[in-house]
Amino acid sequence: MSYELINGNCFEVLEERFPDNHFHAVVTDPPYGVIEFTEKNVEKMRNGVGGVWRIPAELDGNKRKPLPRFTVLDEEDKEMLEEFFRKLGTVLESKLRPGGYVFIASTQLLMHHVSNGFDTAGLERRDVLVRETKTLRGGDRPKGAHDHPEFRDVSSMPRVYWEPWLLYRKPFDGRLVENLERWQTGGLRRESDERPFTDLLEDGKTPKQETEIVRDAHPAETPDEREAHPNLKPQYLMRELCHAALPLQEGTILDPFVGSGATIAASEALGYDSVGIELDDTFYQMAENAVPRLAEVDTPVEDRADFEHVEKDSASLADFG
Ligand SMILES: C[S@@+](CC[C@H](N)C(=O)[O-])C[C@H]1O[C@@H](n2cnc3c(N)ncnc32)[C@H](O)[C@@H]1O
Repeated sequence: MSYELINGNCFEVLEERFPDNHFHAVVTDPPYGVIEFTEKNVEKMRNGVGGVWRIPAELDGNKRKPLPRFTVLDEEDKEMLEEFFRKLGTVLESKLRPGGYVFIASTQLLMHHVSNGFDTAGLERRDVLVRETKTLRGGDRPKGAHDHPEFRDVSSMPRVYWEPWLLYRKPFDGRLVENLERWQTGGLRRESDERPFTDLLEDGKTPKQETEIVRDAHPAETPDEREAHPNLKPQYLMRELCHAALPLQEGTILDPFVGSGATIAASEALGYDSVGIELDDTFYQMAENAVPRLAEVDTPVEDRADFEHVEKDSASLADFG
């Protein structure tokens, strides 16, 4: 199996390098608010001076990863965001095969803008997957509450304990069985004979081992300058999604916003072909270095019964114990 990593802007790369009806599925974790990955804000994050990124204080000598604050987005930012996802939906609609699925991570505050963009682009909404994950977002007392003891028991919004993944599909060509025959797309791979893929993803945090792999993959010369990608997703989750994304366990998965390469590593571990695109030079180099090592991490997904099927064609699965 093979993967290709491309350093560039996904909109241009997809238009210039890939024919229509090419990819079988998209599994991606995009810039949720778009502005957090503009050059200016990425530079601020790397220099630890904030901007859209909240840089949490160190706790017991442990550095916590920066979090983007989407509450700072104004009306103009939100219009730009919706336009970004409309444009993304349009390019994905032409590059996906009919019936191809899009799994796209989002956030409670902004997912309706992604949906509006994708709906306008002609993709079909299928579900919202709930990934259980305990974050440090929300749950704070109102600003200035220390001057108001009577407001001690109030928080301004819920503490966020789940992450939405929107599920979209390019419209079919005929009925599902015909679409599966002609394009190998249209359905979702079951977890087992008894259990279909479900929309509740029971999942925890990104394991430390994976964060360390990505930190080590940073191209900086000295270890002190190396940072993991702030949005690294766990291999367990990404393998669950990539597994569900190819109903017949064949085809190519696209991640247009590759970051440090979690989707590509998951596809590689499962024995699927994939293409990943990343705009930022540093993150691109991190993905190049991290993917082979992330692909070797063990997760419970490979123990599922139908992996025997892939094993026949895939040398990489021989690596799993
Ligand atoms: C949320 S992160 C993905 C992190 C990834 N899930 C991981 O595990 O490392 C989104 C990535 O998209 C990249 N990006 C933003 N705009 C892009 C564009 N137009 N084309 C390609 N990549 C882009 C950002 O640099 C960022 O690394």
